[in-house]
Amino acid sequence: VPRHLYHPAVKRTPDKINVVLVGGGGREHALAWKIRQSARLGALWTTHPENPGIAALARPVGMPFSVKEAYRLAQFCAHNDIGLVVVGPEEPLAGGLADALATDRTLVFGPTKEAAQLEADKAWAKRLMRSASIPTGEARIFTDAESARAFVESRTEGVVVKAAGLAKGKGVMVCDDAAQAVAAIDRIMVQREFGDAGNQIVIEERLDGPEVSVLALVDGRNILILDPCQDHKRLGEGDTGPNTGGMGAYSPAPVLSARDMEHVQREILIPTVDALRREGIEYRGLLYAGLMLTHAGPKVLEFNVRFGDPECQCLLPRLRGDLLEALWATAAGRLESIDELDFDARSACCIVLASAGYPGEYKRGNPIEGIDAAAGTPDVVVFHAGTARDTQGRITTSGGRVLNVVGLGETLDAARATAIAACDKIRFEGKTLRRDIGTSIGAGVRAGLH
Ligand code: AMP
Ligand code: GLY
Repeated sequence: VPRHLYHPAVKRTPDKINVVLVGGGGREHALAWKIRQSARLGALWTTHPENPGIAALARPVGMPFSVKEAYRLAQFCAHNDIGLVVVGPEEPLAGGLADALATDRTLVFGPTKEAAQLEADKAWAKRLMRSASIPTGEARIFTDAESARAFVESRTEGVVVKAAGLAKGKGVMVCDDAAQAVAAIDRIMVQREFGDAGNQIVIEERLDGPEVSVLALVDGRNILILDPCQDHKRLGEGDTGPNTGGMGAYSPAPVLSARDMEHVQREILIPTVDALRREGIEYRGLLYAGLMLTHAGPKVLEFNVRFGDPECQCLLPRLRGDLLEALWATAAGRLESIDELDFDARSACCIVLASAGYPGEYKRGNPIEGIDAAAGTPDVVVFHAGTARDTQGRITTSGGRVLNVVGLGETLDAARATAIAACDKIRFEGKTLRRDIGTSIGAGVRAGLH
């Protein structure tokens, strides 16, 4: 029997909802921007006012953010009549923030610690998928380097070696041969590059095909699927160079048709939510399935338990409905009250402006000019990801991914052109971007879905 963490007594959507938004990146700026458009919003609070984009939209909760001291945020929620906490990033969810904050008066958008294992423990996620026959790569799980090495040396095909825990997207190594796989095992398990995240590794068969992300709101039993999108993880144009947190994203991703989306819902999302329920877990929040469209159909590469960053930034500017209402209904277990989420038929292309050197070392504190000019362009939205306000009030760079520039257009090409024109209005030392977001979309490859 599923454990009900949240009180099912909440029936009606409140007229006004006071919201605390957790997280301080571009994804959270986009969430704040869209939540602010809701007629149901009371006060909007942020745990991360150091992001100038978020600070312009939300009031600071006035305490440093710490999952270990979640009781302080819980007190804040009680004193300020917070109806909903929206958690952007995965770390606080994996650390149990939703468990610590949820009460009968404060709902949380974001899964419990137990449910967050879907992202925070790839070995656990693999076992869950296997138990429910959810299509995913064949994999073996190892807890010691010796047996892992013996396994990869016995194989001739390429494998993918993954640290089981959270590693900011850097713990996955796609290997061409056994030597590379042995080196990957060494980095994760012997040199412990990702710390405890490498206590277990998943060694997976190497799959092939275009990738696509499917995000859905899940309220425990109901699923509301969002438009498909795709991010570009590699640093360089033509999908070359090292993996990053994401250099851009676009939606909708034409590689999945409406029929394909039904297939994904039926074969992947619903069985996953059901499998979680069988484990006694009621999943409430965003479920993100990273898929590879292989010739044998779509297979799950990974689950995330929150909006993708920068996928969120290319989805929300297209969302027509009331995001806050949808997030609240998700957290309240009442998603059936939302018919569907209506998306603008136009395309959105989000380009990340990064600091030179990212994903390695980079300089901070470079002044940025031209944000207002870019943001003032028609069909453009600019989100702050890694910026700060210096003592003189200037906006400066403060992270690897600095700004997210989203362009909208009738076609993906038009959306990209609009985004690029806006990017060109923004200046800072070391500005690095990809001008090809949404051009290398698995050209010509169609998955054998039906
Ligand atoms: P993940 O964080 O698990 O999504 O992995 C990051 C990236 O590694 C994915 O976006 C894929 O490009 C690649 N990848 C992960 N698993 C596989 C796999 N089984 N076969 C091929 N590529 C993979
Ligand atoms: N853009 C991929 C992620 O958010 O994990």
